[in-house]
Amino acid sequence: MPRAAWAAAVVVLLIAALLGLRSAAAGDPPLVHNGLATTPPMGWNDYNAYGLDVTDALVRQTADRMVASGMRDAGYLYVNIDDAWMADSRDRAGNLRPDAARFPYGIKALADYVHAKGLRLGIYEDAGVKTCGGKPGSLGHEQQDADLFASWGVDYVKYDNCYAGPGCAQTSCTGGNEVPVKQRYAAMRDALVRTGRPIVFSICNWGTDAVWTWGSGYGNLWRTTADITPTYASMLSIFHASVGLVGYAGPGGWNDPDMLEIGNGMTATEDRTEFSLWAEMAAPLISGSDLVGASPATLAVLTDADVIAVDQDSLGRPGLEVSADGGLDVLARPLSNGDVAVVLFNETGTAATLTTSASRIGKTGATGYSLRDLWSGATSITTGTISAVVPAHGVVMYRVT
Ligand code: GLA
Repeated sequence: MPRAAWAAAVVVLLIAALLGLRSAAAGDPPLVHNGLATTPPMGWNDYNAYGLDVTDALVRQTADRMVASGMRDAGYLYVNIDDAWMADSRDRAGNLRPDAARFPYGIKALADYVHAKGLRLGIYEDAGVKTCGGKPGSLGHEQQDADLFASWGVDYVKYDNCYAGPGCAQTSCTGGNEVPVKQRYAAMRDALVRTGRPIVFSICNWGTDAVWTWGSGYGNLWRTTADITPTYASMLSIFHASVGLVGYAGPGGWNDPDMLEIGNGMTATEDRTEFSLWAEMAAPLISGSDLVGASPATLAVLTDADVIAVDQDSLGRPGLEVSADGGLDVLARPLSNGDVAVVLFNETGTAATLTTSASRIGKTGATGYSLRDLWSGATSITTGTISAVVPAHGVVMYRVT
């Protein structure tokens, strides 16, 4: 980012902090903003489609497809390597090293490849003794690892929460062994800032320790729940767990309801629902799919420009649930140009009519409003009533002007 843009970003964030629009809980260290993620990050991560089988070839092929499919130009910039990219042990100097079979050319060469395509590279580590996949964690090596990532040209670090202290089990600690969570995440936050490289910091502590109440002082995004799976039930439960947390999110720090499962097994209707809800909540849009083999239908959902524009709206105010009655939910998100993005979501297993009004979604003072259906493109006019028949598990999403 040019120096002037950095300065402008810092000024904007300082003003926001002074106005009290966003604040860390009392007693937390001061906000350490890196000026990044002024809108929710967009990109891809290998884990949900490939588990621990990430390779150099996969990342390159995915980057190629992100360009060829139009995803990069739609805004998906981060190509994120997840767990198990590294060898089982550090080298003699204590440095992490990539798994020689899966990353034979090293991470720097891969970063160069990705950057040459106009994309950015993300990597994964863990705020504990080991990663969830059993590789060396960063606890006690934070600056060394951050410096290494910066030297490779890494642009994004996802920081997991397994083995959270000496003697801890993978996801649980007993006997007071856990190193306090804020201490662990602050150590990597500060190490990344000290590198001087702009690196997005993604906190992955699975929504534990009420991370949304302190996340904005520590990272650019924080997971709100345990891992998503490619089912409607999982997606729905994560939506419910996350939608009430929207007040904690804003430019520079976002709730992360985990990766998009679009193309991974839900129905076409459910895929559109996930994309609409995530955009309405101002969630990061990180595809967790096999993009190399992604179908035109999957790519069409992921690159829908109107829905992405809602997600990426510069006001950065996530949508509020204005009503939720028997599985029929209405959400409203104010946008920077005065429009409101409305999602009518039918959670239930049968089609239903959902109804709200212009005044309930925060629009008053006009005699009529135009409604643009963001998935069909159809436009209609209303004097106040906003209503649609919504299929089971589906949404109707309007931009109200
Ligand atoms: C945890 C994270 C996942 C993924 C795996 C990797 O479960 O929540 O997103 O990074 O670890 O092992």
